[in-house]
Amino acid sequence: MNHSTIVDYITQHKTRFINELCDLLRMPSVSAKPEYKADMLATAEAIKHRLLEAGADSVEISATAGYPVVYGEKIIDVKKPTVLVYGHYDVQPAEPYELWHSPPFEPVIRNTELHPQGAIFARGACDDKGQVYMHIKAFELMIKTNTLPCNVKFMIEGEEEVGSPNLGPWIIQHKSKLQADVILISDTSITANDAPSIDCGLRGLAYMEVEVTGPNRDLHSGVYGGAVANPINILCQMIASCHDENRHITIPGFYDKVRTWSPEERAEMAKAPYNETAYCKDLNINQVWGETGFTTIERTGIRPTLDVNGIWGGYTGEGAKTVLPSKAFAKISMRLVPNQSSDEIAQLFKSYFEKIAPSAVSINVTVHHGGEPVLVPTNSAGYKAASQAMQETFGKTPIPTRGGGSIPIVALFKKELKLDSILFGFGLDSDALHSPNEHFGIFNYLKGIETIPLFYKHFVNSK
Ligand code: BES
Ligand code: MN
Ligand code: MN
Repeated sequence: MNHSTIVDYITQHKTRFINELCDLLRMPSVSAKPEYKADMLATAEAIKHRLLEAGADSVEISATAGYPVVYGEKIIDVKKPTVLVYGHYDVQPAEPYELWHSPPFEPVIRNTELHPQGAIFARGACDDKGQVYMHIKAFELMIKTNTLPCNVKFMIEGEEEVGSPNLGPWIIQHKSKLQADVILISDTSITANDAPSIDCGLRGLAYMEVEVTGPNRDLHSGVYGGAVANPINILCQMIASCHDENRHITIPGFYDKVRTWSPEERAEMAKAPYNETAYCKDLNINQVWGETGFTTIERTGIRPTLDVNGIWGGYTGEGAKTVLPSKAFAKISMRLVPNQSSDEIAQLFKSYFEKIAPSAVSINVTVHHGGEPVLVPTNSAGYKAASQAMQETFGKTPIPTRGGGSIPIVALFKKELKLDSILFGFGLDSDALHSPNEHFGIFNYLKGIETIPLFYKHFVNSK
């Protein structure tokens, strides 16, 4: 496989590559909302047909207890290595719609400061349809130019954005079919378009919901105010008590399994390019904020967090209504680092909240989905092949980085298939994943299609 063959193929077909991705982005595959069920199933069908058109031998829509997994493969020779590509066809809900500059499921191309060659704006453009489609087009390219050097399996799931609740059993059920030499996932980001990077770690997650109940009904806030515990006031106090003045988390035992980093390791990490002014400007904030004594890269990469994701209760309609609410609610996520365990941290959180809640209210803490943090070794054949491939297409050796987000299935792949995943992402953190105006750079999309075949080549050559 010759680099110029790849570049020629992409130059010839890039308009079609972009149009095909836009067609996929028009399908509103929101896994969190039942009203999109038909669109979810239609999207799975579409992925199946794209895989078949690209050259897969067989593709099935494989049932789970939730949305199906699209599984396809091309086995050229059982004696050759096998790459298993994982991605997700579901997307996050697009709300709030009014903050989108163009409708979330009507992709348009616009230039941005970071994407002078244009970016496709649509929900799922980067997370993860655009990055999944890079793999399908890179596969097409290798098939059509007769350069596919090994076997490929595709496993594109439909429930990543809701925590992959049914994927564990599915993997166990299909273990033998999923046998591979490496897992390749494009669902993370690079540091910048001129600073390629490969994540060698992801944070885990413990996602909680808290319900605080005070009086048996909403009350007049004048008649009862001052004499009855207000669940919202109490919940706010409990949440505030989770951090000390150094923004260190106060839940007993929370940091017990978090390892400390040596000055040398931290110095190594600090080599990654980071421009605080640009970071703040992109977010329109005056300063960054977080645990004292750590840099932004450390705060999002190697330190755990606790964040309120949503909080509600009482009167939130138009105008004012004087009411002392009966209930208050919050959704709270904690991002975890090695060797914290999602279940253990969820339990510590629950015990802490139950302990600090005053007896004037009752409290109910429930656990939503979770996921374990992961580390990916940088000395594996897969990592080296990914690094070499990026070196060739970006002209720079990618730096190993830590992704702040979570992909719970990566820990399960390790546990069940004993395989490391190569986190071969091509998006940018600033591409507004999960936010209004999500986008994916055309440069990034095409760069992914260009780099992936080189990964295959180097990986197979190293075997
Ligand atoms: N692709 C993201 C995860 C991600 C983004 C990792 C950027 C590293 C850098 C994924 O789709 C995602 O959003 N995951 C969820 C997991 C949750 C729903 C269990 C997350 O991180 O919140
Ligand atoms: Mn994703
Ligand atoms: Mn996501």
